[in-house]
This record gives sequence, structure tokens and C-alpha cells, in this order.
Amino acid sequence: MKNIQAKMFNKKASNPKNRPDQIIEAIILKSGQSIADIGAGGGYFSLRFAKIAGQEGKVYAVDASPDFLEFIKKSAKDEGLNNVIPMLVSEDRLVLPEKSLDFIFMRNVTHHIPNRVKYFRNLKDFLKPDGKIIIIEYKKGKFFTFRGIFGHDVPKEIIIREMEEAGYLLEREFDFLPEQHFTIYY
Ligand SMILES: C[S@@+](CC[C@H](N)C(=O)[O-])C[C@H]1O[C@@H](n2cnc3c(N)ncnc32)[C@H](O)[C@@H]1O
Repeated sequence: MKNIQAKMFNKKASNPKNRPDQIIEAIILKSGQSIADIGAGGGYFSLRFAKIAGQEGKVYAVDASPDFLEFIKKSAKDEGLNNVIPMLVSEDRLVLPEKSLDFIFMRNVTHHIPNRVKYFRNLKDFLKPDGKIIIIEYKKGKFFTFRGIFGHDVPKEIIIREMEEAGYLLEREFDFLPEQHFTIYY
């Protein structure tokens, strides 16, 4: 069942309508850098990052579901990638190597996180001094759509305010995604 869901996440993430190539271009991840993909789901972005980061770089695929992480582990193995490190977390108990990351990437996951300001503040421990946090989150869905009814979204203004409260500044924002907002912080 979880495999089907992981594949579904990847199908959506890779759909050209959701502009995955433009997302990758906007992040400017370089070979040798390290990134954590928090709420990695089916791992579509984790694997793309791993190809760019290369042998000297690292991708932490972080998720609260062991089944998704197993799926990612297998996909990485099938693609001959050995720089993807699966990390299981429960709620906000995230532990990553201190001051090690160039980027933290969170796509469609902040709506799952209960105490976001505290959570965002803690992320600073894992970032290098010039590290950045990338947040892609759903805008409000139209009435009578799944997201409109179940509220799997967080408005951009709330994310910006919470990130500022947690000690970050907005560096860039992009408006090319049809369903989500996309902001980068330092
Ligand atoms: C909607 S999916 C997004 C998956 C992927 N980021 C993508 O864009 O395709 C949300 C993911 O976040 C994970 N998740 C939920 N709460 C989490 C938490 N507190 N920490 C890490 N991952 C979490 C879920 O298990 C799920 O894989």
C-alpha cells in the first residue's frame, strides 16, 4: 500500500506541470554539497539531488514512515546511488549531523508539522552558517477539492512569518508553480 503511495507521490512530483526541472534549477545545488529532503515521501527529489551532489555529497532522505524510507533505499540502490542516507524521524525528533547541511528542502510537508516555529528554529543546528532552507507548500485549494476540504496547505504569508519568528530571512521567492508557493530562507 505504502509503495503505491510512494509511487503516487513521485508521479505527482515528476509531472512536468509541477515544474520539477525548474525547482531543481532554482535551488542551485552543487556537486559535493549536502542536503536534507525532509518529508521525502517517494524520494523523487532525494534521488535527483543525489545525482547532482555526487560521490562527495550527501542526501538525507528524512521521513516519518519507515516504508517510504525502504522504498527510497531500494530506488537509490536500483539507480546505483550510494549517497542517499535514509533517516527515520518521529514527529519533531529530528537528528542530523550538526552544521553539516548546505540545504534543507521541504516540499508539501510543513502542513504536517504541529509546532512549526520551534521545528524551524531547531533546523538551524543542522545547517552550515551559509545554509539555506527551501520550502514548497500548497496554496489554499479550490472549494470542493481534496485540499480545499481537508486543508493540506499553509499560506505563504504564514510560512514567511513563522520562519522570521524562527530566526530566518526570506532570500528569494518563485511564482512559477501552479499549486504551491516556493520560498528560500537563510
Ligand atoms: C505529501 S508527502 C510529500 C512527499 C515529497 N516531499 C514530495 O513532494 O513528493 C508528505 C511526506 O511527509 C512525511 N512526513 C509527515 N510528517 C513528517 C515529519 N514530522 N517529519 C518528516 N516527514 C514527515 C510523510 O510521511 C510523507 O512522506
